[in-house]
Amino acid sequence: MSEKNIMEIAENVYWVGVRDWNRRLFDALIPLPKGTSYNAYLVIGNKGKALIDTVNPGFENDLEDKIRRLTKPEEIDYIAMNHAEPDHAGAIPHVMKISPKAKLVATGRGAKMAQVYYNVPQERIKVVTDNEAISLGDKTLRFIEAPMLHWPETMFTYLEEDGVLFPCDFFGAHLAGGIYSDEIVDLLVHAQRYWGEIMMPFRAMAQKALDKIASLNIKMIAPSHGPIHRKPESILGAYKRWAAGETRPKAAIVYVSMWNSTDAMVKQMAETLVSKGVELAFHNLAVTDIGDLAKDLVDSRAIVLGAPTVLGGVHPLAVYATYLFKALRPPTKFAVVLSSYGWGGGAIRQIQEILGDFKIEVVGALEINGPPTDEHMKRIVEIGKALAKKILEGGA
Ligand code: FEO
Repeated sequence: MSEKNIMEIAENVYWVGVRDWNRRLFDALIPLPKGTSYNAYLVIGNKGKALIDTVNPGFENDLEDKIRRLTKPEEIDYIAMNHAEPDHAGAIPHVMKISPKAKLVATGRGAKMAQVYYNVPQERIKVVTDNEAISLGDKTLRFIEAPMLHWPETMFTYLEEDGVLFPCDFFGAHLAGGIYSDEIVDLLVHAQRYWGEIMMPFRAMAQKALDKIASLNIKMIAPSHGPIHRKPESILGAYKRWAAGETRPKAAIVYVSMWNSTDAMVKQMAETLVSKGVELAFHNLAVTDIGDLAKDLVDSRAIVLGAPTVLGGVHPLAVYATYLFKALRPPTKFAVVLSSYGWGGGAIRQIQEILGDFKIEVVGALEINGPPTDEHMKRIVEIGKALAKKILEGGA
């Protein structure tokens, strides 16, 4: 069955999600150049029916319309809430209303959130523990706790008979278009960007979740954003690499410049690194897309931060980038900081203060007054060569 935006992804398992083509920002932070989708799924067993996740507020009627074309909402027995964030759980109050016998299935933490966020009465919540299953007759839903991916209450739902894993945000991508991931040429680029923005700070928890699902016979991964993985090996392999913190011989140059001095410094550094065979990602903070930067931090072995001084402190865009870098907790091993100032320095010290106890080896730092001289450029080349050596050797 494939009509009017309903897709049967396995026998009696339907995608009933919606596509948000025009959304351009998430969490008032993350740019969404390709929009996104909120994927919900309806599982119809011969003795029960379950909805897996819902949709963003504002799309309740679209979801209801799709459900009604497959079944009466009154016949839904369960709503599995893998994650309480409103982009997936925001339509829960609506579905609970049109499906009066449905119980909300959630982890213990999820149950509390459902009460706080969505006023779901306790008697309509079924709390499940790790590995607990619910039978829909010829379909069995097994629930796998996967905390901090990326909220404390997150869980996965596994449909045993069909081998379909519903992991909500995990394995997702912010893409409004596309049905199956193997049909999208640059899917892994979007998935890497998503990982960098959402999952990278929780690598240890991701590793645990990957270990937990390793023994499952997963034939399909149906996340709650972006395309479905009907050939899951590719995304599973990528997630294993990213969760393990594997980096490449690559440096992210992240900078801002006011009067071209810092610009000249980072470009000299870029030339040096490229000439040594280091792959570069170049981000001018005045114009760069923060999601693109997050994507490059996923596998960059080094960061070069270019941060001028303005108004007696580090340029605010560099403060923002440094703070974001620390919050995203990338596996970056090496750093270089380059800075110029007009009449008072201190940028490097301030950046160190922001980084705090973040573990990274600072290979070199140079703070200069005004435009770089030939001597400064020679020093940058020296630092660049030392950094390239570290990058190419791979690091600890
Ligand atoms: Fe897509 Fe964390 O919600």
